[in-house]
Amino acid sequence: MVYGFRGLGRFSAVSSSQEFDAHRLRLDVISIFPEYLDPLRHALLGKAIEDGILEVGVHDLRKWATGGHKAVDDTPYGGGPGMVMKPEVWGPALDDIAAGHVVGDELESASPHLKSARHDEIEGVEKRAYEVEAAGDKELPLLLVPTPAGKPFTQTDAQGWSNERHIVFACGRYEGIDQRVIDDAAKRYRVREVSIGDYVLIGGEVAVLVIAEAVVRLIPGVLGNRRSHEEDSFSDGLLEGPSYTKPRSWRGLDVPEVLFSGNHAKVDRWRRDQALLRTQAVRPELIDETQLDAADRKVLGLD
Ligand code: ADE
Repeated sequence: MVYGFRGLGRFSAVSSSQEFDAHRLRLDVISIFPEYLDPLRHALLGKAIEDGILEVGVHDLRKWATGGHKAVDDTPYGGGPGMVMKPEVWGPALDDIAAGHVVGDELESASPHLKSARHDEIEGVEKRAYEVEAAGDKELPLLLVPTPAGKPFTQTDAQGWSNERHIVFACGRYEGIDQRVIDDAAKRYRVREVSIGDYVLIGGEVAVLVIAEAVVRLIPGVLGNRRSHEEDSFSDGLLEGPSYTKPRSWRGLDVPEVLFSGNHAKVDRWRRDQALLRTQAVRPELIDETQLDAADRKVLGLD
């Protein structure tokens, strides 16, 4: 399945980053459960596909399996429970994707309703990309391997990866993928093993949905409002504080008075105070890594 750039859908067209002025990202996902990745076609990601900013290819790993049973896994050397995914299947799959030999049908994606503007799209917004550089040789595609044994995925990663041209996800199941696949892939990819949290999922597919959404919304022109990214939780190392909309009073609960003051400096200070207090209550370890001025320290009761 390839969901992609209208009129430019061939994969070869995106393997050279020089061919486009606008930022475009190609995502390839390899999985034994490709239908798990259907949500990539919807909502914000579907809109990015419609707008020609994003192209997504979802590939069934079994297409690279050989033999009568099309086995993709085998018992682990050294014994133990579970199964390990076979290198002879993953190796050719990753070779083909890196070389741009897409196996699968071309599909135009996203429902017609996605062509209408979203409420959070703003005309004339800044199309400036995040300056966070992904390390290494940018000519090689980035291979992300979701695993609970990986490095924790963060907002900083999402910002860096939103500048990439080609990201490939390798979804492991069972006890994981034979480690030599990861080691060998480093010849053709910049490889990162990533975890989305300290818990164990059945496979990497849900992690791909999480990472893809976090990355794609940061591509200039996707969410349309860079300021909203800058106020995201984690962007300044703090959790975002509460938000309110109309009506002013609801079920006996009033919107804080300061938000009607019209005084932007006062509103900004109040928002920062709320972010500081929420972070201190919920994620106190983040406070230790935040630059605090005298006003911040006072509101946190640290002086
Ligand atoms: N696969 C299984 N558990 C995972 C996790 N926590 N993060 C990323 N991939 C996973």
